[in-house]
Amino acid sequence: MKKVYLETFGCQMNVSDSERVATLLETKGFEITPNEDSADVILFNTCSVREKAEHKLYTRVGQVRNSSKQKPMVGVLGCVAQLEGETLFEQNRGIDFVLGTKAVGRVHEAIEEVDRTNKRFLDLGEREENYDWSVSDSQRQTPHIAFVPIIEGCNKFCTYCIVPFSRGRERSLPGSEIIREVLELKRKGVKEIHLIGQNVNSYRPKSDTGLETFSGATPFSKLLRAVAATGMERIKFTTSFPRDFHPDIVKAIDEHQNLCNWVHLPVQSGSDKILKAMRRGHTIENYKQRIDVIKQSPRNISLTTDIIVGFPGETIEDFEDTKNLFEYCQYDSAYIFRYSVRKGTPSAELNDDVPLKEKTRRFLELENLQKDIQNKVLASYLNKEVEVLVERKSSKNEDQMTGHTTCHKVVNFIGSNDLLGKIINVKITESKSNTLFGVVL
Ligand code: 5AD
Ligand code: SF4
Repeated sequence: MKKVYLETFGCQMNVSDSERVATLLETKGFEITPNEDSADVILFNTCSVREKAEHKLYTRVGQVRNSSKQKPMVGVLGCVAQLEGETLFEQNRGIDFVLGTKAVGRVHEAIEEVDRTNKRFLDLGEREENYDWSVSDSQRQTPHIAFVPIIEGCNKFCTYCIVPFSRGRERSLPGSEIIREVLELKRKGVKEIHLIGQNVNSYRPKSDTGLETFSGATPFSKLLRAVAATGMERIKFTTSFPRDFHPDIVKAIDEHQNLCNWVHLPVQSGSDKILKAMRRGHTIENYKQRIDVIKQSPRNISLTTDIIVGFPGETIEDFEDTKNLFEYCQYDSAYIFRYSVRKGTPSAELNDDVPLKEKTRRFLELENLQKDIQNKVLASYLNKEVEVLVERKSSKNEDQMTGHTTCHKVVNFIGSNDLLGKIINVKITESKSNTLFGVVL
C-alpha cells in the first residue's frame, strides 16, 4: 500500500480540494499519512494568490528532496500547478507530476502513470462531468464541521488578482446536489457547514432544480433558505463579493436562526480611486450601504474583511480613506495584505510605486488601528452568553477546549474531551487579542 503525504497551502477551496483528493486516494487503495518522512508520494496543493505563498512551494520541494532518504515521488497540485504548468519541471528538478486545479480528480492516475513510465507527467485538463465530490469522515479536517463548495472560479477579474486565471470561470454546483450533500452531512452528525466559493453570492446554477420552491431575490439567497430548511445546525458562508451582496441575504439571516450571524465582505481599499484601479465594480458609498443593512440586523451580525495596502498609485490620502472606512465599519476582524505583483494580472503592468518599507508601515498602522477596534468589539462580549461548537483541545493550554461562536469568534474555556462536537453555552469572562475566554454554563 503506497503512503501519501498531502500538504495544503492557501484558501478554504484548497483545503476542500485536498479533503476530496485524500478521500479519492483512500478509495483507490492509498494510505494517507501525516508523516512526510515515511511517505512514498508527497503532494503539495499550492496557492498563488501572493508571492509569499508561491515561494513556500519551492522551499518545501527542496526540503523534502534533501531530507528524505527514499526519494519520494513529488506531485504539485492546485493554483501554482495550473499557472506554471510545464515550466515547474524546468524550475524544479524534484517535481514528478503537475496537476492543475481542475485535474485533481485524476490524482491517482497521475501517480500510477509516473510509477509505470518513470517519466514526468502533466495534466491541466478539465474536470470530468461526474467527478465524485464526496469526502470521507476520516479525511475531513474536523469531524463536526464541513466545507461545501457551491461555486468555483471567478469572473470578476479584479486587476491585482490571479484567481480568475488559476481557477477559471465561475461554475455553480446544482442546488439539488448541494442540498443532498448537506442532508448527508447532517445524517452523519456534522454540526456546522461552510458554503464556500470565491464569490458565494454570485451563485448562479444552470437551472433552479432543488431550489424552485424557495423564495429569494437571487439564486444565492434562495440557496441559503433551502440549506436552512435542511435543519443543519449551523450554516456559515464565505466569501461574499460586495457588488453582488443583495440585502435579501441579510433578510434570510434574520429569518433563519441556523444561518450564522457572520458576513465576510472583502473591500480591498477604502479609496474610490483605488477601487476603480482595482476594477472592483463598486464605490465606497455602495459598500457602506451594504454595511448599513448588515449592521441594522437584529442578529448582531459580525463583519470581517480583506484589505490590500500599497496597491500601485495608493497615496497617503488613499490610505487615510482606508483607515476611515475601518473606523466606519468597526470590523470584527480584518485580513490585511501588502500588495504583491502577480505576473499576468492587469495590475502587473502598473508601476508598483509604493516601496515595500512603506507598504509594511501602512500594514502595521492599519493593523494597530484594527487591534483597537477589535479589542472594543471583543470587550462588548464580556458577561454575555454565546453558543460555542466545541472543536478541539486548545493548543496552548492542556485544560482548555476551543471552538467558534455562531459569529465566528474563537472561544476558549476549561473543559474536557467529552464536550467535543457539542454546541454549548459559554459565558464570556475575558477577552485577549483575538480570543474570548469563558466558563461553560
Ligand atoms: N496582492 C495582495 N493581496 C492579494 N489578494 C489577492 N490578490 C492579491 C495580491 N496580488 C488578497 C485579497 C483577497 C485575499 C484572498 O487575498 O485581499 O481578498
Ligand atoms: Fe480575485 Fe476579485 Fe475574484 Fe476575489 S473577486 S477571487 S479578489 S478576482
